[in-house]
This record gives sequence, C-alpha cells and structure tokens, in this order.
Amino acid sequence: MNKLLRYYCSFLLCGLVLTGCQRELSPDPKPSIVEVPPGFPPLPVPADNPFTAERILLGRRLFYDPQALSMTGTISCASCHRQERAFSDAATLSTGIHGRKHWRSTLPLANVAYASLLLWDGSVGSLEHDILITLTSPRVFGWPDTAAFSAHLQRHLSYRNAFYQAFRAEPSAALAAKAIAAFVRTILSGHSPYDRFVRGDTTALTPQQRRGMQVFFRSGCSECHRPPLFSDYQFYCNGLLAHYWEEGRAAVTRDPADIARFRTPSLRNISLTAPYLHDGSISSLLEVLRRYNTGGFPIATKDRRLRPLGLSEAELIALEAFLHSLTDSSLLRNPLYGRPE
Ligand code: HEC
Ligand code: HEC
Repeated sequence: MNKLLRYYCSFLLCGLVLTGCQRELSPDPKPSIVEVPPGFPPLPVPADNPFTAERILLGRRLFYDPQALSMTGTISCASCHRQERAFSDAATLSTGIHGRKHWRSTLPLANVAYASLLLWDGSVGSLEHDILITLTSPRVFGWPDTAAFSAHLQRHLSYRNAFYQAFRAEPSAALAAKAIAAFVRTILSGHSPYDRFVRGDTTALTPQQRRGMQVFFRSGCSECHRPPLFSDYQFYCNGLLAHYWEEGRAAVTRDPADIARFRTPSLRNISLTAPYLHDGSISSLLEVLRRYNTGGFPIATKDRRLRPLGLSEAELIALEAFLHSLTDSSLLRNPLYGRPE
C-alpha cells in the first residue's frame, strides 16, 4: 500500500459515516470513513459505490489529471473546479476544450454529496451519472464517445493497476465516474467562522457579522439558504434578473410554473465563488444583496416570499460581512482534497 493510501486509511476521524466497505476490495481491515463536520446530516453514500480508500484515491488522481481525462491533455476537473476557489472558478462562464464556453456558471463542489438533484436545473439525479455525462461530453473533454475515453484509460499502465485495486476491473468511463464521484463526495466544508460561532466560540464572529446574521434570518434568507448547508436544494425563481434567457427547471419538468427556477445555491464559501447566479451575470456580492433589497424584478414565477426588504446600507454591509463568515479556509488547504503528489 503506498503512502497516500495509508494516509487515507488512517484518516479515521470523528462524526463518522461507516460504509459498506467491500472487504475483498480493501486491504485495510478498518472501514473507510470520512469526517463529517459536526452538526451536518449523515453523509449520503449510495450502496453501489461505497467509499474505499482505493476508489477515493483513484478518483482524486483522475480529477486532477488532464492527460487522463481530456483528448488534448489540457483539461481536468480542476480546470474549472479549483480548490483555492472552493472548487468553483472565477469565470462568468467556464471554458472547456478548444475554448468552448459552457452556458452556465460553474457550481462549487463542497458538500455536493448532499444535493439529491444536481446542476442548476436539477436535471441529473446522481453524482456518478453527472460525472459520467461530463467526462464523455465532447464539449468538455473532447472524447467523441464513451468507448474512445475508456480505450484511452486502458492504455495507461499505472491506471490499469489503480482501477484493478479499486474495482478489480479494467479501466472504463463508468468506473472512472464512480471513482471521481467517491472523491468528490468526500469534499466537505463546515469549518468556517460561522461554524465555530455556532459551536460555542462567541469570538468567532465580529459584532458586525453578528448583526448581519440577524439580518439574514430576519429577512427570510434562511428559508431557502437553510443552515447548516445554506441550501434546501429546491428550485425557485428569485427574480434578481430582469430577463431569464433560459427555462431553468422547466427544461426538465416541462411545467410552466418552473420557468426561471434554479436550484438554491449554497452560500458556504460565497466570497470565493463570484460571479453569481446561474449565468454568472452579477460579479459583486453586495450587488446581489442590493437586488434582494429591492424585492427583485416582476417575474411571473418569482417566489412570493421575495419582497422589498427595506434594509439600510449599514444592514446590507453587515449582511455581506456575515456571508463572508461562511468561508472555510481549511477547505482551501486540506491536502486530502488537493492535487496528489
Ligand atoms: C469546462 C469547465 C468544467 C469542467 C472541466 C468540469 N466542470 Fe463540473 N461543472 C461546470 C459547470 C459550468 C457546472 C454547472 C453546470 C450546470 O448546472 O448546468 C458544473 C457542475 C458540476 C457538478 C454539479 C454540482 C452541483 O452542485 O449540482 C459536479 C458534481 C461537477 N461539475 C463535477 C465535475 C467533475 C468531477 C469534473 C471532471 C470530471 C468536472 N465537473 C469538470 C464546469 C466544469
Ligand atoms: C425563495 C428562495 C430564496 C430566498 C428566500 C433567498 N434566496 Fe438567495 N437564491 C435563491 C436561488 C434560487 C438562487 C439562484 C438564482 C439564479 O441563479 O438565478 C439564489 C442565489 C443567491 C445568491 C448567489 C449565489 C451564487 O452562488 O450564485 C446569493 C448571494 C443569495 N442568493 C443570497 C440570499 C440572501 C442574502 C437572501 C435573503 C435576503 C436570499 N438569498 C433569499 C433562492 C432564495
């Protein structure tokens, strides 16, 4: 067992989620365990993709490896999901292979294990499926089809070994997606100043941030951006844009009531994930808050709870300061989530 693998196996910490670690796949007799931040719900892990140290490590290698993932050797998951940006990017719209633009803003990956429907419109039902679609999308990684990507992985001797250790099988696109999903599921963020405050450290927030927290709860933000994940993962139109160029959730459900509805984004690490909204069209957090303060534009499907708030400039700035307290700097440095050596 190599050093990194031993590191994962010894990463057996508190707040535990046990998984049905398949004994024949893991040389380590202990179950694989991932640390869940205190106060978070149990981590959902699908029965057909249990955590094993080998899978998580293989997924992490692939996540960061442009040679393995893309036809041109230039794009990896980390091109758009960058650890130092809380696994999002700074672009309005992200760029895939040959400079092709995605039509939506990159979603950050921390705590994504808790989202039962993925993407801004909830069009995909599992991480494994979402990642398989991305891996085999010609616009992102350039592969014309699944078979071409699988054949490419099979040509790498070191990956053949790693897939064998993780799955007792040959490399394939579907197993690559499983391994990457296992890794992505381990990316958890719950150690911000706000979390320290909730756990009893009254000095963790400044007085201004505490005032901002009151504004946040009083203004109904928490009804959709619900702690501890700061999202309820449901779909709404918040009416912050004068025009909606795409249908949002309605593209999936075909229900006109869902037009311009998008999945509530988590506000954790929000100070690192600008620009904002599904189309990345608002670059400043304060501007988002100012628009909420006006009650938004008169869009037919806008949620009824969104009304003018009448907040003063000082209250808006305090609210912004509170949102900054949701930044978890340990996420950005955690070596378990970083590029493998
Ligand atoms: C070209 C940039 C780009 C690359 C490369 C990329 N992504 Fe993404 N990712 C995005 C964008 C943009 C979205 C949001 C798309 C949407 O909602 O339609 C997204 C969404 C996601 C989501 C859904 C998050 C959520 O909250 O629902 C996951 C999971 C994800 N990506 C994982 C990955 C993985 C794993 C890889 C590598 C296999 C990868 N992405 C490669 C841009 C990228
Ligand atoms: C009815 C549910 C709902 C309420 C209430 C609500 N939001 Fe939102 N929020 C959303 C949705 C949905 C989006 C994404 C909309 C889009 O992309 O078009 C969003 C987006 C955001 C964003 C941008 C996040 C990103 O990653 O792009 C911020 C910041 C935000 N909301 C803060 C707040 C604050 C502060 C309040 C209280 C004043 C609030 N929200 C109230 C549902 C809600």
